[in-house]
Amino acid sequence: MTKTDPAGIITYANETFLRMSALAEDEAVGAPHNLIRHPDMPRGVYRLMWETIRSGQELFAYVVNLAADGAHYWVLAHVTPSYDAAGRLVGYHSNRRAPRRDAVARAEELYGRMRAAEAGQAHGRAAVDASVRALDDALAASGQTYDELVWAITNEATA
Ligand SMILES: Cc1cc2nc3c(=O)[nH]c(=O)nc-3n(C[C@H](O)[C@H](O)[C@H](O)COP(=O)(O)O)c2cc1C
Repeated sequence: MTKTDPAGIITYANETFLRMSALAEDEAVGAPHNLIRHPDMPRGVYRLMWETIRSGQELFAYVVNLAADGAHYWVLAHVTPSYDAAGRLVGYHSNRRAPRRDAVARAEELYGRMRAAEAGQAHGRAAVDASVRALDDALAASGQTYDELVWAITNEATA
Protein backbone atom coordinates (compact mmCIF):
# COMPACT_ATOMS: atom_id res chain seq x y z
CA MET A 1 0.00 0.00 0.00
CA THR A 2 1.19 3.53 -0.76
CA LYS A 3 -0.10 7.05 -0.38
CA THR A 4 0.95 9.94 -2.60
CA ASP A 5 0.46 13.67 -2.66
CA PRO A 6 -1.65 15.10 -5.52
CA ALA A 7 1.43 15.13 -7.81
CA GLY A 8 2.19 11.44 -7.29
CA ILE A 9 5.07 11.88 -4.82
CA ILE A 10 5.07 8.98 -2.35
CA THR A 11 4.19 10.16 1.18
CA TYR A 12 3.73 6.73 2.78
CA ALA A 13 4.72 3.17 1.89
CA ASN A 14 3.92 0.12 3.99
CA GLU A 15 6.32 -2.73 4.79
CA THR A 16 4.91 -5.05 2.13
CA PHE A 17 5.36 -2.44 -0.58
CA LEU A 18 8.93 -1.73 0.52
CA ARG A 19 9.80 -5.42 0.61
CA MET A 20 8.25 -6.11 -2.82
CA SER A 21 10.01 -3.07 -4.30
CA ALA A 22 13.35 -3.76 -2.56
CA LEU A 23 13.38 -0.18 -1.29
CA ALA A 24 14.23 1.39 2.06
CA GLU A 25 11.56 3.68 3.44
CA ASP A 26 13.68 6.79 2.86
CA GLU A 27 14.24 5.78 -0.78
CA ALA A 28 10.51 5.50 -1.44
CA VAL A 29 9.04 8.33 0.62
CA GLY A 30 9.61 11.64 -1.14
CA ALA A 31 10.19 10.00 -4.53
CA PRO A 32 7.80 10.16 -7.50
CA HIS A 33 5.79 6.98 -7.98
CA ASN A 34 7.41 6.28 -11.35
CA LEU A 35 10.40 5.14 -9.24
CA ILE A 36 9.15 1.58 -9.77
CA ARG A 37 7.95 2.05 -13.34
CA HIS A 38 8.53 -1.04 -15.48
CA PRO A 39 9.39 -0.45 -19.17
CA ASP A 40 6.78 -3.06 -20.20
CA MET A 41 3.94 -0.90 -18.82
CA PRO A 42 2.14 0.92 -21.63
CA ARG A 43 2.00 4.66 -21.17
CA GLY A 44 -1.70 4.69 -22.02
CA VAL A 45 -2.51 2.87 -18.77
CA TYR A 46 -0.98 5.70 -16.74
CA ARG A 47 -2.81 8.32 -18.78
CA LEU A 48 -6.06 6.49 -18.04
CA MET A 49 -5.09 6.20 -14.37
CA TRP A 50 -4.35 9.90 -13.95
CA GLU A 51 -7.42 11.04 -15.92
CA THR A 52 -9.61 8.78 -13.81
CA ILE A 53 -8.26 9.69 -10.38
CA ARG A 54 -7.97 13.42 -11.22
CA SER A 55 -11.65 13.38 -12.10
CA GLY A 56 -12.36 12.05 -8.61
CA GLN A 57 -13.01 8.43 -9.55
CA GLU A 58 -11.20 5.31 -8.42
CA LEU A 59 -9.46 2.86 -10.73
CA PHE A 60 -8.55 -0.81 -10.64
CA ALA A 61 -5.62 -1.62 -12.93
CA TYR A 62 -3.23 -4.46 -13.61
CA VAL A 63 0.33 -3.14 -13.23
CA VAL A 64 3.78 -4.69 -13.51
CA ASN A 65 6.36 -2.94 -11.34
CA LEU A 66 10.15 -3.03 -11.28
CA ALA A 67 11.85 -3.59 -7.93
CA ALA A 68 15.15 -1.88 -7.15
CA ASP A 69 16.92 -5.26 -7.29
CA GLY A 70 15.70 -5.85 -10.86
CA ALA A 71 12.83 -8.20 -9.99
CA HIS A 72 9.38 -7.50 -11.36
CA TYR A 73 5.99 -8.21 -9.84
CA TRP A 74 2.42 -7.93 -11.07
CA VAL A 75 -0.30 -6.40 -8.95
CA LEU A 76 -3.96 -5.56 -9.22
CA ALA A 77 -3.87 -1.96 -8.00
CA HIS A 78 -6.85 -0.08 -6.58
CA VAL A 79 -6.09 3.64 -6.74
CA THR A 80 -8.41 6.13 -5.03
CA PRO A 81 -8.40 9.88 -4.39
CA SER A 82 -8.44 11.01 -0.73
CA TYR A 83 -10.00 14.19 0.58
CA ASP A 84 -9.73 16.16 3.80
CA ALA A 85 -12.70 17.12 5.96
CA ALA A 86 -13.28 20.22 3.82
CA GLY A 87 -13.48 18.08 0.68
CA ARG A 88 -10.11 19.15 -0.72
CA LEU A 89 -8.00 16.57 -2.53
CA VAL A 90 -5.02 15.65 -0.35
CA GLY A 91 -3.58 12.85 -2.46
CA TYR A 92 -4.12 9.31 -3.65
CA HIS A 93 -4.01 5.85 -2.12
CA SER A 94 -2.99 2.67 -3.88
CA ASN A 95 -3.86 -0.72 -2.45
CA ARG A 96 -2.35 -3.64 -4.34
CA ARG A 97 -3.15 -7.31 -4.29
CA ALA A 98 -1.49 -10.28 -5.92
CA PRO A 99 -3.25 -11.16 -9.18
CA ARG A 100 -3.83 -14.66 -10.51
CA ARG A 101 -1.46 -15.93 -13.15
CA ASP A 102 -4.02 -16.23 -15.95
CA ALA A 103 -5.30 -12.70 -15.24
CA VAL A 104 -1.71 -11.50 -15.68
CA ALA A 105 -1.50 -13.40 -18.99
CA ARG A 106 -4.60 -11.53 -20.24
CA ALA A 107 -3.19 -8.17 -19.11
CA GLU A 108 0.16 -8.95 -20.75
CA GLU A 109 -1.57 -9.67 -24.04
CA LEU A 110 -3.51 -6.37 -23.95
CA TYR A 111 -0.48 -4.36 -22.84
CA GLY A 112 1.63 -5.96 -25.57
CA ARG A 113 -0.78 -4.58 -28.14
CA MET A 114 -0.62 -1.15 -26.54
CA ARG A 115 3.20 -1.21 -26.50
CA ALA A 116 3.29 -2.24 -30.16
CA ALA A 117 1.11 0.77 -31.01
CA GLU A 118 3.45 3.05 -29.02
CA ALA A 119 6.52 1.63 -30.70
CA GLY A 120 5.28 2.81 -34.10
CA GLN A 121 5.31 6.44 -32.90
CA ALA A 122 7.92 9.00 -32.06
CA HIS A 123 8.25 9.44 -28.32
CA GLY A 124 5.96 11.75 -26.45
CA ARG A 125 2.31 12.54 -26.86
CA ALA A 126 1.88 10.63 -30.14
CA ALA A 127 3.00 7.42 -28.43
CA VAL A 128 0.58 7.89 -25.53
CA ASP A 129 -2.23 8.70 -27.98
CA ALA A 130 -1.47 5.53 -29.98
CA SER A 131 -1.36 3.53 -26.76
CA VAL A 132 -4.78 4.80 -25.69
CA ARG A 133 -6.17 4.14 -29.20
CA ALA A 134 -4.97 0.53 -29.03
CA LEU A 135 -6.66 0.19 -25.64
CA ASP A 136 -9.88 1.79 -26.93
CA ASP A 137 -9.86 -0.53 -29.97
CA ALA A 138 -9.46 -3.60 -27.77
CA LEU A 139 -12.23 -2.39 -25.46
CA ALA A 140 -14.55 -1.59 -28.40
CA ALA A 141 -13.97 -5.09 -29.78
CA SER A 142 -15.00 -6.67 -26.49
CA GLY A 143 -17.74 -4.11 -25.74
CA GLN A 144 -16.27 -3.32 -22.33
CA THR A 145 -14.91 -0.37 -20.38
CA TYR A 146 -11.41 -0.80 -18.90
CA ASP A 147 -13.04 -1.34 -15.52
CA GLU A 148 -15.30 -4.06 -16.90
CA LEU A 149 -12.35 -5.68 -18.65
CA VAL A 150 -10.34 -5.71 -15.41
CA TRP A 151 -13.22 -7.38 -13.58
CA ALA A 152 -13.83 -9.86 -16.37
CA ILE A 153 -10.15 -10.82 -16.32
CA THR A 154 -10.19 -11.06 -12.54
CA ASN A 155 -13.32 -13.15 -12.30
CA GLU A 156 -12.82 -15.37 -15.35
CA ALA A 157 -9.34 -16.26 -14.23
CA THR A 158 -9.10 -19.68 -12.69
CA ALA A 159 -6.26 -20.43 -10.33
C1 LIG B 1 -1.47 6.44 -5.80
C2 LIG B 1 -0.63 6.19 -7.03
C3 LIG B 1 0.00 4.97 -7.17
C4 LIG B 1 0.80 4.72 -8.29
N1 LIG B 1 1.42 3.52 -8.36
C5 LIG B 1 2.28 3.28 -9.38
C6 LIG B 1 2.99 2.06 -9.44
O1 LIG B 1 2.83 1.16 -8.60
N2 LIG B 1 3.87 1.89 -10.47
C7 LIG B 1 4.07 2.85 -11.42
O2 LIG B 1 4.90 2.65 -12.32
N3 LIG B 1 3.37 4.00 -11.40
C8 LIG B 1 2.50 4.23 -10.40
N4 LIG B 1 1.82 5.42 -10.37
C9 LIG B 1 1.90 6.30 -11.56
C10 LIG B 1 3.13 7.19 -11.60
O3 LIG B 1 2.84 8.38 -10.88
C11 LIG B 1 3.47 7.55 -13.07
O4 LIG B 1 2.36 8.18 -13.66
C12 LIG B 1 3.80 6.32 -13.91
O5 LIG B 1 4.80 5.55 -13.29
C13 LIG B 1 4.27 6.72 -15.31
O6 LIG B 1 5.47 7.39 -15.22
P1 LIG B 1 6.08 8.21 -16.43
O7 LIG B 1 5.08 9.27 -16.75
O8 LIG B 1 7.36 8.74 -15.91
O9 LIG B 1 6.22 7.25 -17.56
C14 LIG B 1 0.99 5.70 -9.29
C15 LIG B 1 0.34 6.93 -9.15
C16 LIG B 1 -0.47 7.18 -8.05
C17 LIG B 1 -1.15 8.51 -7.91
